[in-house]
Amino acid sequence: MCGICGVVGSRQAQSIILEALRRLEYRGYDSAGIATVVDGGIGRRRAAGKLDNLAALLEREPLPGRTGIGHTRWATHGAPSVCNAHPHATSRVAIVHNGIIENFEALRHELESAGQVFETETDSETIALLVDYHLRRGLAPKDAALQALKRLEGAFAVAMIFVDHEGLMIGACHNAPLAVGFGEDDMFLGSDALALAPLTRRIVYMRNGDCVVMTARGAEFMTFDGTPVERIAQITALTADSVGKDGYRYYMEKELHEHPQVIGQTLQRMVDPSTRRIVLPDLPFDLARVPRAIITACGSAFYAGMVGRYWLEDIARLPVDIDVASEMRYRNPPLVPGSLGLLISQSGETADTLAALRGLRERAVHILSVLNVEHSTMARESDLVLGTVAGPEISVASTKAFTAQLTVLACLTIATARARGTLKASDEEELVAALLDLPSRVADVFGQGDAIRQMARVVAEARDVLYLGRGSMVPVAMEGALKLKEISYIHAEAYAAGEMKHGPISLIDGNVPIVAAVPSGPLFDKTSSNLQEAKARGGRLLVFTDTEGAGRMSAMAERVVVLPRVHGFVAPILHAIPMQMLAYEVAVLKGTDVDQPRNLAKSVTVE
Ligand code: F6R
Repeated sequence: MCGICGVVGSRQAQSIILEALRRLEYRGYDSAGIATVVDGGIGRRRAAGKLDNLAALLEREPLPGRTGIGHTRWATHGAPSVCNAHPHATSRVAIVHNGIIENFEALRHELESAGQVFETETDSETIALLVDYHLRRGLAPKDAALQALKRLEGAFAVAMIFVDHEGLMIGACHNAPLAVGFGEDDMFLGSDALALAPLTRRIVYMRNGDCVVMTARGAEFMTFDGTPVERIAQITALTADSVGKDGYRYYMEKELHEHPQVIGQTLQRMVDPSTRRIVLPDLPFDLARVPRAIITACGSAFYAGMVGRYWLEDIARLPVDIDVASEMRYRNPPLVPGSLGLLISQSGETADTLAALRGLRERAVHILSVLNVEHSTMARESDLVLGTVAGPEISVASTKAFTAQLTVLACLTIATARARGTLKASDEEELVAALLDLPSRVADVFGQGDAIRQMARVVAEARDVLYLGRGSMVPVAMEGALKLKEISYIHAEAYAAGEMKHGPISLIDGNVPIVAAVPSGPLFDKTSSNLQEAKARGGRLLVFTDTEGAGRMSAMAERVVVLPRVHGFVAPILHAIPMQMLAYEVAVLKGTDVDQPRNLAKSVTVE
């Protein structure tokens, strides 16, 4: 949701900022801009649309200067035009902002009464004009920035540069991420460590309410009332290689191929190799005594949570309530103190999930988060974090993070079941063995690339697609439908197969392909019957099944992708992958922007 970066140092800033923005573009790509301190004044270049438009503008009109800030935008307030693009500047200061200033209307009114003139429709411009107002009163940059920061409500990560102050940059954040990078002769700011990865590995992750005053020689951290605070730099594991495409055409393709490795790495963190038992970190609560779990998340992470519900209820016999975070945060369910809040997020920054986390915490619920980004806000606010070891996920559509979330939830289920005494040792061994077998079974899925591409040709011609599954395959169908909508812009709906006859069956004709996840197992016959009902009405069946179900499915379906037969427990993890691959292949056929689908952004830090 908007990426910001900054550099202050010894080298020309333009190319450093542009490259950092490329690594941040996944956060938003409605417009982009850069500003530098040049000849004592502020130079600025902005362009609507993708970053390439800004790069072309800079090619024609380069921007000199060694102190600069950059921004890539996901529009919230104001259309994605050049005028609304960041940086916002006055004759004294330029700023870039990620987040939403909730009290911007009141501030705007106040500033207009004081003679400040607004040029844009954005909430962000308020920050520039507020700082400008204090500079106009004669305050020094640091004091003007602190005065302004104290007035801001909402979420913000902000970077500022000042006329006549080459070599100075001020950053601040509240409920939005910001990292400070320490180089040799340069200092950097970025929305995430990924943006800074090729520049430096020495990073400070700023905390809520931190302000940083940076020069090329270093950084001073303080609170918004100016009290100094100490922040120690950490060495991040990210390197320049973490953010490359490794020869793949798209990040999504690369990330799909990382599935086996990511599941393997995530398991390595959770399974003791000698005992082959799941080991959780020390828990600040007793899993055996948790009366209930409340699962909440958004988008794909929510579907991972839905699979988790099936597992926790079935295997650990733990009652589960689940809702999307945007609803959970405003619901008022009766909660038993001591319940387990299970939050799932790749980024750890999703505004709705974070708000739901805070709401649950206030009600004495233990917070366990399944997160991919280790230094995220949710990580800091959780009682316990179970990390997915998916590495950076850059494609806007989530793939490997989803299966890594499932892997962690599967391990958590086993540990919970053991603690609650609902799982025999021999059954635990069987489930762990199924998990450990998964990376190599997943690798086999890639052997089905041709069959998936053939299926994609059928789907690419459709205007609407129905996705079906039963049991833990319902959320897998939902994940497949979401991925298709997201990157190919084809309308898709997912249903529990048994629910089809209660409405959606009226949609079925020869133009609506039906994609179904039908692994062998107790629900195979039931799902088969539902598919027969669809076929009888002209439905074109595209089925993912396994070696055991292949015979029966081939007899009825137009296309079948045969996956390895795995234990039913891990089947949702395996089946999610070809669903994602199908969406990818359809998007490639349709020629859409696979990694940066329209209107979307990764890391949704607004409500
Ligand atoms: C779908 C997708 C989104 C995210 C959702 C939650 O492909 O990527 O639906 O899953 O925005 O994001 P996180 O996991 O960062 O909280």
